[in-house]
Amino acid sequence: MSFFTIVLKRCGIYIGLAGLSVLLTTAHLHAQQRQIPLDKLQSGLAFTGPEILDLQADDFANPALPSMDKGAKLWKQVAGKSDKSCQSCHGELSANMKGVATRYPAIDKATGQLFNLEDRIRQCRQKNQKANEWPLESDELLAMTLYVTSASNGMPIQVSIDGKAQSHFEAGQKIFMTRQGQMNLACTQCHDQRYGIKLFTDKLSQGQPNAYPAYRIEWQRLASLERRLRFCYTGVKAELPPWGHKDMRDISLYLMWRGQGLKIEVPSVRK
Ligand code: HEC
Ligand code: HEC
Repeated sequence: MSFFTIVLKRCGIYIGLAGLSVLLTTAHLHAQQRQIPLDKLQSGLAFTGPEILDLQADDFANPALPSMDKGAKLWKQVAGKSDKSCQSCHGELSANMKGVATRYPAIDKATGQLFNLEDRIRQCRQKNQKANEWPLESDELLAMTLYVTSASNGMPIQVSIDGKAQSHFEAGQKIFMTRQGQMNLACTQCHDQRYGIKLFTDKLSQGQPNAYPAYRIEWQRLASLERRLRFCYTGVKAELPPWGHKDMRDISLYLMWRGQGLKIEVPSVRK
């Protein structure tokens, strides 16, 4: 083999590798392309009927309002061994929790885990306030999550999928795109491909996360995004992971990224 052919071969390998890396980069970029472009993003509110719109807009009849009041009360209530309220440490909610809900789920620095806002509040209550635990889906936790989220009302969702969050994002995206359950349906088939279409009596929405925790009329209570997701799992007859499972956090991160730009909208009502 002449020196020339060796150089050529080497070049070939390098060109090949460069080509491969370009391909991989494109694949990576493609994986992060939105299924629904920014100008087509629509909150679930756009797909509900006039009764829900009226209820949500009504400053007295909105059934989620008592939970807002409860959250506001708890914010100021002294609790636990710290002998402090959330407010003692964090001050006025409207000023100091502004925008916080737009960037969760996020990686918790202490544990390296992906936390949604509920997880963060629970952890703060135990670690900093040193008070008794609020279980997932408890009235207290939902009310506080709603109240903290309300400080971000009207602000666009803006989550990070960099660093440690990236693998969670990819896992969430994979679940969203994969058919599952006895019905063999993927989230994307309903919420990317068929939104706006009538399913039974109601229109399918884009499955956006910007209104949670939301008051669901059918359940007669406030419910977390996780509870809504679990209901969609049940809808396709898929096996449910335990409450608080990583899968649920991963999907939530994917949903928030997918809905990036949509504005936080609480307190919301859903059928
Ligand atoms: C068979 C169709 C179907 C599939 C598959 C499905 N959903 Fe849903 N989803 C619904 C229906 C129906 C609703 C209630 C009405 C609406 O908002 O579309 C809903 C509501 C939602 C909502 C609440 C939207 C809002 O504004 O209140 C989210 C979020 C959501 N789905 C996410 C998911 C995810 C994530 C998956 C996959 C794990 C999934 N869905 C799979 C039909 C489906
Ligand atoms: C003793 C002081 C203290 C009390 C009481 C306290 N917190 Fe915190 N909180 C902190 C500190 C310090 C941090 C940031 C570092 C950390 O996570 O520990 C924090 C972080 C947070 C965050 C994350 C903010 C962000 O920017 O991501 C939220 C949300 C939060 N707390 C909510 C609450 C709520 C709700 C309560 C009441 C149930 C509460 N905290 C009570 C000290 C406190």
